[in-house]
Amino acid sequence: MTVIGIIGGGEVGSQIARAAIASGYQVVIANSREPATLKDLIEELGPSARAATAAGAAEAGDFVIVAVPLKLVNDMPVEQLAGKIVLDTNNYMAWRDGHFAVIESGGKTVHELRQEQLPGAKVAQAFTHIQAPRLFLSASPAGSPDRHALSVSSDFPEAVALVTRLYDQFGFDTADNSPLSASWRSGPGQPAWMAHAHQTRAELLVNLARARKSIPA
Ligand SMILES: NC(=O)c1ccc[n+]([C@@H]2O[C@H](COP(=O)([O-])OP(=O)(O)OC[C@H]3O[C@@H](n4cnc5c(N)ncnc54)[C@H](OP(=O)(O)O)[C@@H]3O)[C@@H](O)[C@H]2O)c1
Repeated sequence: MTVIGIIGGGEVGSQIARAAIASGYQVVIANSREPATLKDLIEELGPSARAATAAGAAEAGDFVIVAVPLKLVNDMPVEQLAGKIVLDTNNYMAWRDGHFAVIESGGKTVHELRQEQLPGAKVAQAFTHIQAPRLFLSASPAGSPDRHALSVSSDFPEAVALVTRLYDQFGFDTADNSPLSASWRSGPGQPAWMAHAHQTRAELLVNLARARKSIPA
């Protein structure tokens, strides 16, 4: 059975864990503290879930989801993530995480910085422009009229293929917004972000094309 390592047991990490288990995956989840602090979540998730340290979750995962804001000083387990596909749910929120000059100048996206911090990994931006509860509320089977769509950006086609499969299993269509340098198009304040309540793949593609760099984070 495929194991997903999930680093971050907050709103997004826990909701992705629920969706993953509903799709038949096993999950190994970490937060920034002792694994025992995730006891209530693990009890809720049942036998397909266990808690670990961040390094343990990274090591256990066939692929890994990082649902943790990016920090100036890298706090992710670089060695254990090397060689793995890493889905980064992070959004750039300067009010929360501080200002990154290279992002604000348009030089790099927050997901390119994550890729720089994890040089051996294959990073993909994913799940960034959907509110956690909507992972269930907005899901629908493949082929449904008006199926909701999510974007993915990566420099690695195998990472885009994996996210596309995962989105489909969770109940979403995919708009490929690669490479990673394009991920700002789905960032906070952009049309694709503002339409997070509902957009089909065709609408999402239009919204990604309408993105403008001048919108502040
Ligand atoms: N909330 C949403 O609906 C939503 C939707 C899309 C994208 N996002 C983005 O996804 C990211 C996570 O959002 P969230 O709402 O889930 O945040 P959150 O509820 O604050 O959870 C953050 C999680 O990250 C963990 N964490 C922080 N530093 C860590 C480290 N060094 N190692 C391991 N775990 C660490 C925290 O652990 P502790 O509890 O131990 O501190 C916590 O479990 C953010 O960048 C956010 O912008 C959020």
